[in-house]
Amino acid sequence: MSVAGKDIFDVDSLSRKEILQIFQTTKEFKEVLKRPIKKVPALRGKTVCTLFFEPSTRTRMSFEIAAKRLNADIVSFSASTSSLKKGESFKDTVKTLDAMGVDLYVIRHKEPGSPMMLKRYTDAIIVNAGDGFRAHPTQAILDGYTMWEKFGKLEGLNVVIVGDILHSRVARSNAKLLNKMGANVTFCGPKSMMPLGVENYGLEVSYDVHEAVKNVEVVMGLRMQLERQTGGFFSTLDEYNEFYGITPDIMDLAKNSAIFMHPGPMNRGVEVVSKVADSKGSKVEEQVTNGVATRMALLYLTLGGDNNGNS
Ligand code: CP
Repeated sequence: MSVAGKDIFDVDSLSRKEILQIFQTTKEFKEVLKRPIKKVPALRGKTVCTLFFEPSTRTRMSFEIAAKRLNADIVSFSASTSSLKKGESFKDTVKTLDAMGVDLYVIRHKEPGSPMMLKRYTDAIIVNAGDGFRAHPTQAILDGYTMWEKFGKLEGLNVVIVGDILHSRVARSNAKLLNKMGANVTFCGPKSMMPLGVENYGLEVSYDVHEAVKNVEVVMGLRMQLERQTGGFFSTLDEYNEFYGITPDIMDLAKNSAIFMHPGPMNRGVEVVSKVADSKGSKVEEQVTNGVATRMALLYLTLGGDNNGNS
């Protein structure tokens, strides 16, 4: 099987072998990013368009930098200054962009399923950069890569994901990818922030963070997603921090080699304290660095970069 020509709606559509191929390619591009000239002509002549209908720093910038590092042309669609504001439909907007020769769209939207809807109007490749609380596959791939790089494999790794699971596309995509790769995943958080039917997800569920982190290699904090919450999930942010905030004491319960991860943006003092976020065991900045190399790998492999023969 090959990643070439594939839409990346979620990690479901990627086999174990394909995920390892993405990791290996990411590793090679990480080496390119250490060179004085951090560019290769692998996607010369290809056009990538970012369609972000929700705020983003990491995902949008890393896709844009990744495309530039591969010598692709990159254009950013801005919904607020586009003809959508004059009543043009989404379908006609996509057809207009297609007519300009876009090869691959990177889309983020608050509506779950929006990348699949986009696919109805275009033959270009679609990469999901986050659709509501459904999926964030490229975040899961870069997180998986960060663990693979640190521990050498994902099989048998113990990972606890702590926080607002209910509203988290990162938790859902990470759990799928990590399960597929043989890691043991625990979701931990207040009952009010667990999705209905979580017991059928094929992973452990815990409501006690002190128990859940015991002997794990990876503690992943999640952002408290206030913009998706309708209220009543916890009394106050201070109370949430008291019960579920990741502190040095909690990290001490994990394995000695344990790392802290967070997809960002972080709410310091809510889901994690600065002493952990800025500690030696924190991989938060490494995740961002890996985000560029991972997205280079994804653009390169989906757009069939091998065919250009000039990476
Ligand atoms: N992790 C993540 O998706 O961050 P951004 O919202 O900044 O893209």
